[in-house]
Amino acid sequence: MKKAALVSIAAYAPQKILTNAELEKMVETSDEWIVKRTGIHSRHIAEDESLTSMALKAGKLALERSGLEKNEIDCLICATVTPDFFCMPSTAAQVASELGLGSIMAFDISAACSGFVYLLEVAKSLVESGAKKNVLIIGADKFSSIVDYSDRSICVLFGDGAGAGVVSVASSDNHIIATHCASDGSKGELLMTPKDGRNVGFVKMSGNEVFKIAVNTLTNDVVELLEKSGIASSQIDLFIPHQANLRIIKAVQERLGLSEAKCVVTVGEYGNTSAASIPMAMNTAYEDGRLKAGSLILLDAFGGGFTWGSALLRFGR
Ligand code: COA
Repeated sequence: MKKAALVSIAAYAPQKILTNAELEKMVETSDEWIVKRTGIHSRHIAEDESLTSMALKAGKLALERSGLEKNEIDCLICATVTPDFFCMPSTAAQVASELGLGSIMAFDISAACSGFVYLLEVAKSLVESGAKKNVLIIGADKFSSIVDYSDRSICVLFGDGAGAGVVSVASSDNHIIATHCASDGSKGELLMTPKDGRNVGFVKMSGNEVFKIAVNTLTNDVVELLEKSGIASSQIDLFIPHQANLRIIKAVQERLGLSEAKCVVTVGEYGNTSAASIPMAMNTAYEDGRLKAGSLILLDAFGGGFTWGSALLRFGR
């Protein structure tokens, strides 16, 4: 059977930065509380930029870095829960068109903060089955469009951004070794956007409950994935988790017995960017030289739905 590889990674963060000091002027909070409870110092905000334009910028760079021609991409999938258009058209169809990819299959998936791990599993399946050769995957979210900036329990947590990669038929030992995606809709109300008439409402979260479930679920999920893959945590070159809260990241990192040096942390700069969070963190590690072709990386994610998952792969062509 063919194997699939993540051959490129890229990201885009909007220019405007919203700091903890600015939030102190908007709601009753403090830099000290935010940093202590979350590890977040700032987040990037899209302002006038659309979700599609952020996805487009990340997708374009991922395509360039893949070394492929536009006409070699035969599928584009976008993970987002904050699309520009309610129901349709999909972000993926818009981006495929703007990138000039022709009339390829393009569709969106909704898996909140687990979006990028879900994308990897779907793209891997399409490539391994032979249905597609090169799939452009984009995780993008503009949470500023669904955050109530008078709700201190939410507005300090989220930011905007996009991340992308290309999944292709593997041509070496570098490939996606294993993915695991799961959900539990019975806990959906703990993190949701209740409908406000005909409009999408603001995000509501039972932070404390979500926190505890996220730590337990993620820890079990990554340990199980490693065991099933026959890989010891000591073999991992980089752990690149979903960036929601530094305390959640540390809890899983410590459970895996990994050093801080092996754990990529970008939550301080970007906050939680939902489906964009993992590829944005991967891109940071790629651009600063930590993530190289052949690096063995472990990803984990947890988000609304609930959805969660993990992935183990050797990066690059
Ligand atoms: N500034 C100051 N105080 C705040 C605050 C803020 N921005 N937000 C909440 N508080 C207050 C609360 O009102 C509460 O006050 P009280 O004790 O007087 O009632 C107190 O801080 C503690 O609130 P609590 O929600 O229990 O804090 P916490 O330690 O659980 O931290 C989160 C809150 C949101 C940071 C944390 O629960 C979290 O990260 N949850 C998970 C988020 C996540 O992973 N989502 C993943 C899916 S994307």
